[in-house]
Amino acid sequence: MKIELASSLGFCFGVERAIELAQNNKGSKTYGPLIHNKDEIDRLKTQFNVGLVNDLSDIGTDDTIVVRTHGIEKNELSLLKESGQNIIDATCPYVTTPQNIVSNMSSKGYSIVIFGDEDHPEIKGVTSYSEAKDTFVISNEEEIDTLPLKSKVAVVSQTTKKFNDYSKVVVKLLSTKREVRVFNTICNATFENQDAALELAQKSDIMIVIGGKHSSNTKQLFNICKDSCHDSYLIENEQELLQEWFVNKEFCGISAGASTPSWVIENVKNRIMDMIDE
Ligand code: F3S
Repeated sequence: MKIELASSLGFCFGVERAIELAQNNKGSKTYGPLIHNKDEIDRLKTQFNVGLVNDLSDIGTDDTIVVRTHGIEKNELSLLKESGQNIIDATCPYVTTPQNIVSNMSSKGYSIVIFGDEDHPEIKGVTSYSEAKDTFVISNEEEIDTLPLKSKVAVVSQTTKKFNDYSKVVVKLLSTKREVRVFNTICNATFENQDAALELAQKSDIMIVIGGKHSSNTKQLFNICKDSCHDSYLIENEQELLQEWFVNKEFCGISAGASTPSWVIENVKNRIMDMIDE
């Protein structure tokens, strides 16, 4: 069986930057999980003593706090800064951009529409930067009809959303509102991994997608692969591989979400090679 890695997979720029910032600050603590990958968080703990706190009240005054890639809510960041701790802001610049847009456009009197998953930390953070009461998070274009929007609207997307789905939201807004300010806040790293995964899935008879089960971009990668390759599997690491998946298979593609470190990808590839030799 041939094994091929997607031409673009794994860590994106924002995650790489966050990991580097955490590693450069040994003994620091991240506020919330730094990225959506448990194995990498465990490695940071073991090798760099980077801890995790989930509650502001658990943070000591001497702690160095690393803010996660998805960002946090505006008031939490202010509280952290006011409390005198050393703050390392690892929020991905592609997440800071929609935060700033929402802040700016809401202060200019625009209704704000955010296309994304309401419960996702990135979206909670972005929403918190709006000064407008008429700020709405939507998951599809049909919800627009129910919203009490003004005639001028600004719209942003969660960084990991699909371009085609965002386009539908934009088209719907344009067809009903007088003024629509559209910002393309979808991240290119997501596109690159998705395009490469699709290309590979189309020629594979089994696809392995590696990433956190709670990671939005990994789940999307998996769905894209599944559409083209029926035998697609989503795993977090090599321990979840099953030998029976590879029986009578000729071409195995591997893709990985933006929070998956290269050492986990390598472990998966090696384990598959062992399995097909056994
Ligand atoms: Fe940033 Fe894009 Fe990665 S938003 S964290 S570079 S997927």
